[in-house]
Parts: sequence; structure tokens; C-alpha cells
Amino acid sequence: AAADKGGWPSFMAKEVSEEPEAVANTLRGRIHDGVVSIPELDGLDDLFRGIDRIIVIACGTAAYAGMVGKYALEQWTRLPVDVELAHEFRYRDPVIGPSTLVVSISQSGETMDTLMAVKFAREAGAKTLSICNTQGATIPRESDAIVYTHAGPEVAVASTKAFVAQITALYLLALHVGRLRGAVSASAVEELARELEAVPSKITWILENDRARIEEFAAWMADTRSVLFLGRHVGYPIALEGALKLKEITYIHAEGFAAGELKHGPIALIEPGQPVFVIVPSPRASALLHAKVVSNIQEIRARGARVIAVAEEGDAAVLPFADEVLRIPLAGPLFEPLLAVVPLHIFAMGLAGAKGLDVDQPRNLAKSVTVE
Ligand code: G6P
Repeated sequence: AAADKGGWPSFMAKEVSEEPEAVANTLRGRIHDGVVSIPELDGLDDLFRGIDRIIVIACGTAAYAGMVGKYALEQWTRLPVDVELAHEFRYRDPVIGPSTLVVSISQSGETMDTLMAVKFAREAGAKTLSICNTQGATIPRESDAIVYTHAGPEVAVASTKAFVAQITALYLLALHVGRLRGAVSASAVEELARELEAVPSKITWILENDRARIEEFAAWMADTRSVLFLGRHVGYPIALEGALKLKEITYIHAEGFAAGELKHGPIALIEPGQPVFVIVPSPRASALLHAKVVSNIQEIRARGARVIAVAEEGDAAVLPFADEVLRIPLAGPLFEPLLAVVPLHIFAMGLAGAKGLDVDQPRNLAKSVTVE
């Protein structure tokens, strides 16, 4: 019913507009005066002190949240982290045991491939923790520990607000475990917690200031047949997410690449007029990575690509080479993905709308895949 959509034309539009709340609600009650502590994990200190490795398993958009989370988990816990698609993980003979923590991520908590991978990990003796958006779902019930995302019900098939909530939960988990293990200082946690708390208002800024312009731009691109996305570091999974969202709801061929791979293949795809979104890392976080990505932009531009840069406010280096710049507010290095994904969600939705497609119920897809 229209009422359920809160006045928005689709559930997806409503859910994108709820991205700031999804982050804020996932943070609620888990940061107190710069100290991160997740009440649901009380009593599990020994479990977290006893692990020597983390494996993140998920499918679809949740797997991309996991890929973003890997950077924070490694940085703040100093534990090695691997991210695996649940359906790939299970059909090998992975090296896991009692000191492995397997973190599953699932909005629905019912994805069969993820559930089976969790059961498999448990049987192999690993510890299991579920990041889930649905209270009482099957995957959290099968896990040793649960961190709920509080994004609220997600109805549209393509996941949006759950994605930012999943990254938020992974960051909280990384800080919680990192602090317990003495891998991150109290003062660093305090600063990082402040960064996290600032994310919702920064997403709101993007929604309020750029939404209309991005939608207009998306409508102008409605006849495009192929879109490429490039990103590096935490921008890489965001490029994958941007491409996934576009194929899911617009049926346009889209692919995401690690920017560093450009010269190993994808650059052969560049021909005049080819649209390429480039997620540009902040020059403040890493002048080196920023310079490398700007040089990628120059390389594809020289071959005629139409460049759409997603770049932080004030980054003037992209201006001479980008046909379009979508701005995101300044944020700490690991926090950019929570912002850079928002214009990509708006873009995919705007383009689907311009093509007259049902964004909530794309063809051939299900919200929750409960078969293998
Ligand atoms: C389906 C949905 C995706 C979702 C994926 C994983 O493919 O269409 O939007 O990312 O399942 O779902 P989960 O509920 O496990 O996060």
C-alpha cells in the first residue's frame, strides 16, 4: 500500500531515504562516551581473545559489506580476515577450527547458502557470529553470537539500507574485538566512534543536496547499454555494489573492477562514450592511492570514456578529467564507503525509474533466496 511506502514512489526509495537512520539505529546503545561495547556480546570475551583468524561469509550485497568490513576488522583487530561467498566456502575443505571465528552476514537471516555455510563451520568446530537484520531468523539461531543490525524491515528486493547497517555493525564488531584484544587504543576507538556517529548526518547531506541532481543525471543515462565501475581499497567493494545494484534493477550490463586491474584487462573495454564510475579515494587518507586512481581516470579518459567521479568535497584533482562529479562529505578513510555507496544507490534507482521499471520487484530475483 502507498501508506507503507511513507509517501515514496517505491519501497526502495523509502529505504534509501532511511539509510541515515539505519546507521544511527545500528549504533544506538553500542557507543557510550567514546567507548564501543556491544551488550549482546557480553560474556564472550574469552571467545574473542581465543581466536586467531576471522572468515566472513555472505552472499550478494551482504558479501560486499563483508569486503568493506575486512579492512576495518584487520586494521583494528590485527587478525587475518578472509571474505568468502557462502556457497564457495562450503564446497571446499577450508582450513578452520576452534580458533576460527566465522562471521556470517545476512539481512534476512534465511539465505540457504549462508545458513548451510554457518552449519558447516560449526560442525568443523569454528565459532560463529551472525550479523543479521531480522530478529529470530534461522541464521542467528544457529550461531554462537549475534549482532543485530537495526535497519528496520527491508522490503525492496535490492538491498540498500541493510548494506550500510551491515558495514556499521562490522565496524562496531571490529572496535569491540580490537579493544578487547588490545589491538587498538582507547583514544583511537574514541575518535573512530566519533567518526561513526557522524555518518548518519553525512548521508543525510548527500540525500538532501544531491538526490535530485543524481536522479536527473540517471534519467539522462537511461539508454546506456553498459556501465563500468572502478574502485580501489574500500572503494573496490563499493564499485562491485554499484554494478550489482545497476544490473539488479535496471538490467543494464554493469561490472565493477579493482582500479589497479584496469591495465590487466578492463581497459580493453573502453571505447568512446563508455560510462565509467570511479570511486576516488580521499587524498587526505592516502595521497598515493588518490594519485593512482586519478591516473586511472586520465588513462580511460584518454580513450574516450565518459567519467563519473564519486569524490570527496573539495577534491579538485578530478575536475579536469571528469564529465560528472558526485560529491560526498569529508570522512575518515574507512568511513568513505558508507557515503560513496549512497549516490550509486540513488543512481541505480533513478535510472530504473526513468526506464519505467518496478524497482521493488525486479525480474527473476527474490528478496531472500531460501533454496540452494
Ligand atoms: C538476494 C537479494 C540480495 C541480497 C542477497 C543476500 O539475492 O536479492 O539483495 O543481498 O539475497 O541476502 P541476505 O538476506 O542473506 O542478506
